[in-house]
Amino acid sequence: MKFAHFLVALVVLALASSIATAGDPSPLQDFCVAINDPKAAGLNTPRYTGNKVGSNVTLLNVDQIAGLNTLGISLARIDYAPNGGLNPPHTHPRGTEILVVVEGTLYVGFVTSNPDNRFINKVLYPGDVFVQNPGTITIANAVFGSDPPISLDVLAKAFMLDSKIVSYLQKQFGGNNK
Ligand SMILES: *[C@@H]1O[C@H](CO)[C@@H](O)[C@H](O)[C@H]1NC(C)=O
Repeated sequence: MKFAHFLVALVVLALASSIATAGDPSPLQDFCVAINDPKAAGLNTPRYTGNKVGSNVTLLNVDQIAGLNTLGISLARIDYAPNGGLNPPHTHPRGTEILVVVEGTLYVGFVTSNPDNRFINKVLYPGDVFVQNPGTITIANAVFGSDPPISLDVLAKAFMLDSKIVSYLQKQFGGNNK
């Protein structure tokens, strides 16, 4: 796939449920203390993307914007290197993601929850929005056993593995990339 432009995507995370798990910070706090020294959020300059995966995530949460305290929402800017910059497969344990493409084209996807592990993917253009709200996901099955399979190139780069090993793992989990 060819990416002609510099790619920028914005991701909004909203808290999906009120179920708390041990170890997670509480999404809501009893007291909201106003502060007078907000940190510069800086959404306006391109980020360095010459790292191994070719992407750079800039977080904008309550640590940068104090006014988000108790609101259960945060934002991230993601810069992708042209021609194959990647944000590795991940989940957000405390949020539902809404992704908006600001510049360029972006190949996105997610794997549905157990038992299907169906891979839903699409190329997005500026202004396109993508929403994900998964249930329970077993990581290995979702990553290596999705149907259809996630591309060898994406998984090899994300996990820093030889594509032969990715192919082997996909076979173990019932995927079938050649
Ligand atoms: C992200 O971009 C900033 C600003 O260009 C840079 O300082 C930082 O090292 C980059 N992070 C990664 C992981 O490349």
